[in-house]
Amino acid sequence: MSAEIINLIDKLAADRSLSLDEWSAAVKGFSPDTAAYAAQIALEKRREIYGNSVYIRGLIEISNVCKNDCLYCGIRKSNKKCERYRLSKAEILACCKEGYALGFRTFVLQGGEDPYYTDEILCDIVHSIKASCADCAVTLGMGERGYESFKRLFYAGADRYLLRHETADETHYRKLHPENMSYKARMACLDALRDIGYQVGCGMMVGSPYQTAEHLARDLKFIETFSPDMCGIGPFIPHAQTPFRDFKAGGAELTCYLLSLVRIQKPNILLPATTALGTVDPDGREKGLLAGANVVMPNLSPDGVRGKYLLYDNKICTGDEAAQCVKCLAKRVEKTGFQIVQNRGDIKKSKEQN
Ligand code: 5AD
Ligand code: FES
Repeated sequence: MSAEIINLIDKLAADRSLSLDEWSAAVKGFSPDTAAYAAQIALEKRREIYGNSVYIRGLIEISNVCKNDCLYCGIRKSNKKCERYRLSKAEILACCKEGYALGFRTFVLQGGEDPYYTDEILCDIVHSIKASCADCAVTLGMGERGYESFKRLFYAGADRYLLRHETADETHYRKLHPENMSYKARMACLDALRDIGYQVGCGMMVGSPYQTAEHLARDLKFIETFSPDMCGIGPFIPHAQTPFRDFKAGGAELTCYLLSLVRIQKPNILLPATTALGTVDPDGREKGLLAGANVVMPNLSPDGVRGKYLLYDNKICTGDEAAQCVKCLAKRVEKTGFQIVQNRGDIKKSKEQN
């Protein structure tokens, strides 16, 4: 096993910081052995703060309408084969009600950048969810919006916002997105969300087209400096109706290694074992938990629309009912030795802050 990489991982555990060159060396030093070493430290760090607990989030995919055309994404506006849908307020509230009975205390409303969801409409939905279950957190993942819009949603009751940065390298960003989207706008959104007071999540795909080890190093450095509360890291998976159809999927093992490095850098971060990770590897989510992830997000979307929210091919859990999905995932979590807990699952303070 490379002594240099082991030293770097130890340094990360001690200092919680690496230079860009060191992050780069750490990424390039990925091997089954270094990954196992990082996972072991990540698990210790995770246990110190979260014990055995795994947090669950009820994911509700509220709309697959999107005005954007990200080159990797299956619901991009140019995909004419995508059958579009949008959930009504009543349908969303019904999902939350069912989710509440199943034990969820966080709901994640995720969707494309659908102009239908004006501030007025979305604030009303958020407000209604919070009014019907006061002990629940609401997380939004509705893409880029303006500062005032984020602010209105926050004051309507939204607690958290997920907006993956996708890549922390502007040149790489340009290769993944059309001309009319901008890296700076994305980063400005993340700053706005933080400024307003949200618990904020960023994140990136692993193995996205044209991605290099240096790009991943920049992602890790960005995560270190931005210090998000949550971070979504999953493999890129090609979708047949996108320009990236012929690129290969990102690896589960590299994804898990990066989860471990992020956990070591920021022991209290909320890290999901993503559906994409469970799609590239049937045991991917379990492997993610064993590498340092502490969140799972079962799908609560209504049966009729699950097969339509396809960001990538072969997505798992599109045929199951919510209750089945929850049971299956609970079993999978227990197999790893962890335990699903029924609470909002807010970020805990790190040891130094206690
Ligand atoms: N493969 C994996 N993840 C994807 N996402 C979008 N398209 C894909 C894909 N083809 C991710 C993006 C986005 C999140 C909601 O899903 O990172 O931010
Ligand atoms: Fe959905 Fe396993 S989590 S079927």
